[in-house]
Order: sequence, then structure tokens, then C-alpha cells
Amino acid sequence: MSDHSTPAADPTAEAGLHVEFWEGLWIRISLVVIAVFVTALTLAAVLGNIQVPGVGGRVDPNALDAEGSRFADPGVRELAPGKYEVYVVAQAWAFNPNPIVVPEDSEVTFYATSRDIQHGFKVIDTNINMMLLPGQISTLKAVFDEPGTYNIICHEYCGIAHHTMYGQIIVEPADGAADAPEN
Ligand code: CUA
Repeated sequence: MSDHSTPAADPTAEAGLHVEFWEGLWIRISLVVIAVFVTALTLAAVLGNIQVPGVGGRVDPNALDAEGSRFADPGVRELAPGKYEVYVVAQAWAFNPNPIVVPEDSEVTFYATSRDIQHGFKVIDTNINMMLLPGQISTLKAVFDEPGTYNIICHEYCGIAHHTMYGQIIVEPADGAADAPEN
């Protein structure tokens, strides 16, 4: 190919775009890197069961304690054997209820909101990571198949005592001490 001729004089100009070898190589490498990243992201999301917190509705942050409010009496509610709902109210600088106690192998749907300002709701060693905002109910589902104590931390800066804001989820063994934690 006459590489230094003008495009108009190049007989192959209309056959296709001429890409220099190194430029083409770097384009291919870039595409491979993007494909690797997208694949890694997809695998991590599927295998790690990553969920995006949902919006579970709206609530008046000034009426959380009002009669009929789902947050008037925060706590654990059993829907069916092994299925629970937990209502959580966050406020500077505590979570209510604390601790949250559920049995092993339970599927728990969290409904959480804030009474005052933004807070975080991250449960260590699980896929639960939500932001809690006044007026909004954040919801996420998790399965606790290993007994133990899971710490909840507030990971949104919420004032002078933000670093002291934490709670706990206690997952009790289904059959008492006889049930060895093996997995
Ligand atoms: Cu609540 Cu930081």
C-alpha cells in the first residue's frame, strides 16, 4: 500500500479504514481489558450475590413512632419458619433494635430508615450495605447460614460520635451447642 499518499489517491481507501499495526494492537488490547473487567464484574456480582439496596417505600421521619407505623416498634417479626422481617430505626448514634437476634439459616429481609440524618447500615461479613435516609425505607434480604455475631457499622459520616455507632446481629445456632459450625 502506498502509505504516504493522500487518502484520495489511495486505491484501497474506500475498501476499509487503514489502521496502523501498533494502533490496532492497542485497540485490541483495550477491548480485551474491557471484556476481562466486565466478565470479572459479572462473576463477582453473581457469585458474591451482590444486591443493590432497594427502595422499600417512603415514611414520614417525624412519625416513626405514630400508631400504625411499621417502625413504631422496631424489631424482628417472623413471617414463617426460617423467614423473618427486621425493622430497624437508625438515629444519631444508635441502631434500634440492638442486638438483632435471629436463628441460624434464617432468611431475613431488612427494612431500615433513619430518624434524623443519613446513616449507613453495613453488616460485616455479609452482602448487606445500605444507606439509610430520613423519609426513605431501604430494604435488602440476606440469609444467615452461619451462627455467630455480625457487627453492624454506620459507614456514613453522621456527626461527632459517628465512629461509635454500631450494632450487632446475633445468629443463634439452630440446635444449640450440639450444632458445630462446620461451613
Ligand atoms: Cu450514623 Cu455514622
